[in-house]
Amino acid sequence: MRRANDQPEESNTAHPCKDCYASRLLSRRTVLKSALGLGVSLHFARVADSAETDPKKLRPQIGDVFIFSSGDHQGQVVTIRDLPEGGPPAFAYPLDPKTQTLRDGSRLNRVLFVHLAQTELTDPTRAVAAEGVVGYSAICPHTGCDVSGWKAETQHLVCPCHASTFDPKDRARVIGGPAPRPLPLLPLRTVDGKVTVAGAFSARVGAEQK
Ligand code: FES
Repeated sequence: MRRANDQPEESNTAHPCKDCYASRLLSRRTVLKSALGLGVSLHFARVADSAETDPKKLRPQIGDVFIFSSGDHQGQVVTIRDLPEGGPPAFAYPLDPKTQTLRDGSRLNRVLFVHLAQTELTDPTRAVAAEGVVGYSAICPHTGCDVSGWKAETQHLVCPCHASTFDPKDRARVIGGPAPRPLPLLPLRTVDGKVTVAGAFSARVGAEQK
C-alpha cells in the first residue's frame, strides 16, 4: 500500500521515456509564456484604464475650455479674438474649468483651431464650428505626427512627415498624401468669447492601427 508521504513513482525512478522530459519542459515553458502574456495584457489593461480615468488623459469633455500650447498666447485661455480669421492654425490642450485640470497628459488631446470665414465652410463643418472656428485633432491619422503645416493660399493643413493635406473647410477631408482618413473633428461652441467643447471627437484619435 502507498503511504501519504510516499513520492509519486514518476519522481523516484528514472523515466524510461526521454520524450516525457521534453514534454514536461515544454509544458513548463507554455505555462511561463502564458504567465508572461497575462502580465503584458494586464499591463496594457492598466494603461488603458488609466487613460480612461486619469483626468489629465481624458479626451476633451463637453464644457472644457482650451489653453494655448504654443505661440504668442501660450498658457492663456483660447478666445475667438485670439484666432486671426484666415489662419494660421493655433494649438491647444483642453482644460476642465471646474477643477482647472489641463488635459495635457496625452499628446492625443492636442487640438488645432483654424478661424475661417463662415461662408467658406461646408454646411456640415459650419454646424460644428464656433463662429467660424473649426477644431480638429492635431495628430495625423497616418503615423501620428503633429499636423503643423499651413498652406495660406489654399487654406489647407499639411502634415510635415509625409505631406498629407487636409481641408479644414470640409471636415478635414484628405486632399492628398497617405493619410487614410480625415482628422477627427471636435465640435465647438463659444461661451463668453471662449472656445469650448460641444461634443466628442468624430472618430478615434491617433495613427491608423494595422
Ligand atoms: S504622419 Fe502625417 S502624412 Fe505621414
